[in-house]
Amino acid sequence: MKSRLLPALALCLALNSLRAADTNAPVVLITKDTNPPVTLVTNTVVAPYILTPPAPATPRINGASVFGVRPGSPFLFTIPATGDRPMEFSVEGIPDGLIIVTNGFEPAFDHLPLGVLKLKPATGQLTGWIAAKGEYKIVLVAKNSKGEAKKNFRIVVGDQIALTPPMGWNSWNCFAGAVSEERVKSAADAMVKSGLINHGWTYINVDDYWQNHRNSKDPTLRGPFRDTNGIIVPNLRFPDMKGMADYIHGLGLKAGLYSSPGPWTCGGCAGSWQHEEQDAQTYAAWGFDYLKYDWCSYGQTDTNQTWPTAQQRAQYQLDFLKQPYALMGSFLREQNRDIVFSLCQYGMGDVWNWGGSVNGNSWRTTGDIVDTWKIMSNIGFKQEQAELFAKPGNWNDPDMLVVGRVGWGRPHPSRLMPDEQYTHISLWCLLSAPLLIGCDMTKLDDFTLNLLSNDEVLALDQDALGKSATCVLTNGNVRIFEKELEDGGRALGFFNLGSAPANLDFNQLAQIGFTGTQHIRDLWRQSDLPDLDAANGVLTMTIPVHGVMLYKLTAAK
Ligand code: GLA
Repeated sequence: MKSRLLPALALCLALNSLRAADTNAPVVLITKDTNPPVTLVTNTVVAPYILTPPAPATPRINGASVFGVRPGSPFLFTIPATGDRPMEFSVEGIPDGLIIVTNGFEPAFDHLPLGVLKLKPATGQLTGWIAAKGEYKIVLVAKNSKGEAKKNFRIVVGDQIALTPPMGWNSWNCFAGAVSEERVKSAADAMVKSGLINHGWTYINVDDYWQNHRNSKDPTLRGPFRDTNGIIVPNLRFPDMKGMADYIHGLGLKAGLYSSPGPWTCGGCAGSWQHEEQDAQTYAAWGFDYLKYDWCSYGQTDTNQTWPTAQQRAQYQLDFLKQPYALMGSFLREQNRDIVFSLCQYGMGDVWNWGGSVNGNSWRTTGDIVDTWKIMSNIGFKQEQAELFAKPGNWNDPDMLVVGRVGWGRPHPSRLMPDEQYTHISLWCLLSAPLLIGCDMTKLDDFTLNLLSNDEVLALDQDALGKSATCVLTNGNVRIFEKELEDGGRALGFFNLGSAPANLDFNQLAQIGFTGTQHIRDLWRQSDLPDLDAANGVLTMTIPVHGVMLYKLTAAK
């Protein structure tokens, strides 16, 4: 019985390589993404379910395989590794001229070294500096009682930083105007205690409301905007900015801050208008490593000149859009530390065309995200204009993550369904987006933690090639995104935007450029599927409503 059914089944698969569960309609291939309307949330409630297997007790070194730093800038990198503690970190294959000091032991050297890095063997924190431009290849080693792991690692000393998208936390989506130093430090503590630091999560970013407010009734937000020398004055909730940054660095993490080029930030606090250089100097003196620079209230500084031609007006408008970022970008570059520059002007003037030229490391491509399927999916699936502009050091930013307890001052569990959250993380990783957790870090539930700690999924985001995925096939409600990876492999994300589960018998690998036998890895489950022949193999899957199947394909040797 079974054997008689098989030929018929094979024929059916060949004809219907993609078919929705609820239809048997023949496949119409659309090679260009035509953005059919996204179906809204269904009434089906799916309980959170965990896909990522726990990390093994043996050491595993996670995160990016490349790190960019400017010559002479303070170096801070923590080797992210999972596995039982205590763990002992070391570095091998150190190139000539680079000195790595472990355990306070300082070897004698008779010439000026290219750089000196100090390694804390118990935590994997590497600090120091490297003076000479170049590429330094080393091997990171992590050892515990269960075994040892090694990873090839490139330090690129040059003009560009953020060679992979920044990963960390930002206060806005959770606390909004209710942020405080205490809450920021607790988030940093939680980044370490939860183990997320071991998966490469690094930045702890304070968003709006660390400055004084123009008219708030809250006394903790009222005070002078600047001192008599024009230096920005933090509000009462942030009594010690340098102390806070030092605290964050002490944990092996990095610190981020927010401002706006206009007189006021989006929340109505003091902005950087006419104090840009001073602000860049102050952030550097406090020890910040990241600046998110918004747009709010800059528009009101427009002199509203009239122009004889529409073309001249358009050019003026583009220059006007670039101006504040070029200004702050150049002041940040003058500082004696690397400060990631994150532009937040919602994609105006097709920022992906010019964000890199004003020293931007990332740029928001859209308006603000909210934890609904409608908003998240409309943002995530509409990045096609910007996708080709992503590259090491320059990232499209579709806004921060809305998983966990979010709520802009009124935290609640994310309103995204579990499968929508898998889609959110998968898509952001495929797009090489900055990953900034937006939830209350002190209240991470198992599902959220699991979602944020799948190293094989995060590896897509942190891949050193730095290419964004693009949508290579669309069929009805199913979108297929493909991302090229540094090792020659390719990730495929199959997203179901429809309101019924999609059963797919996908036999179009050859059509999207795959040849020969392919190893197939299910990244969320971290398990291998049987190898497939690209010419006639069929990848069979069921994609949940608003969910995803995420694979990595590698040519079999
Ligand atoms: C804008 C940004 C948000 C946040 C707020 C702060 O809305 O898009 O991410 O920074 O400003 O006021």
